[in-house]
Amino acid sequence: MGICYKDLGLVNTRDLFAKAVTGGYAIPAYNFNNMEQMQAIIQACTETESPVILQVSSGARKYANETLLRYMAQGAVEYAKELNNGKNIPIALHLDHGSDFEICKSCIEYGFSSVMIDGSHHPYDKNVDETKKVVDLAHQFDVTVEGELGVLAGVEDDVSAEHHTYTEPDQVEDFVKKTNVDSLAISIGTSHGAFKFKPGQNPKIRLDILAEIEKRIPGFAIVLHGSSSVPQDLVKIINENGGKLKDAIGIGEDQLRAAAKSAVCKINIDSDGRLAMTAAIRKVFTTKPEEFDPRKYLGPARDGLKELYKRKNIEVLGSAGHAWD
Ligand code: G3H
Ligand code: 13P
Ligand code: ZN
Repeated sequence: MGICYKDLGLVNTRDLFAKAVTGGYAIPAYNFNNMEQMQAIIQACTETESPVILQVSSGARKYANETLLRYMAQGAVEYAKELNNGKNIPIALHLDHGSDFEICKSCIEYGFSSVMIDGSHHPYDKNVDETKKVVDLAHQFDVTVEGELGVLAGVEDDVSAEHHTYTEPDQVEDFVKKTNVDSLAISIGTSHGAFKFKPGQNPKIRLDILAEIEKRIPGFAIVLHGSSSVPQDLVKIINENGGKLKDAIGIGEDQLRAAAKSAVCKINIDSDGRLAMTAAIRKVFTTKPEEFDPRKYLGPARDGLKELYKRKNIEVLGSAGHAWD
């Protein structure tokens, strides 16, 4: 079986989640597709002494090339060591929204330490079967697995749903028992992308459903997808510099902070990072139209992303300072 993540210096999510659940914080899961994103994530998490999950979607695998991504993740471990005098933060490499067994298997072979099998669009029994099949393989290599119950509104890779199907608290215990999955993504009103709510809606997530779920599986690792907050200062910069993002609204950071203090121990953020990079790039393009060296706009984009992620670790996830718990 291909490359073992342990040889790359990566860790799986088991210990990270156990510590996060008892410590009342969440591990950041930041998506990356390119070098600047990876650098920003590692710099931010090293400077805030936070564990981190480097998250790769199947779209990212196609965009960046799966072999290159693997070496980038290996490079990330070495880079983190270099930034911190030889002592690196815990880094997991995770497949985001794995659609089937084959992609999960391929990622395990490429050195991923954690995979998500997203069977949430299937009927319950098929979701159980698919998830269990991935767990049975992954656990042979000490790779951890995230499953999902309930469907988020919005677009996930190629699949889109107009409305939320909230996770049924009555199903979670059975699902966890039958699949032996290590963590569970739930649907409580978060959604993917920058347009989570419509103007006039009350942008709230269902913390009451989360509390019900926790009662059924106490201490079990819960994951929140679609957790970007869509900072309005970034949307404003984008729109003032030629962008057209109308009515972009995200999840309040206060609600995510509350969720992170509970059994939510992994919070997925991608769109906010995209906004931070786009805002910085658009600003350079308007203020310095003579620039054409990519480093002159990708550098500020990387810096903007790093500052955003440092703030998230400190103020929202609460993961700062927990790298070596
Ligand atoms: O949940 C989706 C993530 O934001 C990844 O997005 O599939 O466009 O890479 P992507
Ligand atoms: P956002 O689009 O809210 O950043 O969600 C990202 C995500 O859930 C990745 O799996
Ligand atoms: Zn997601």
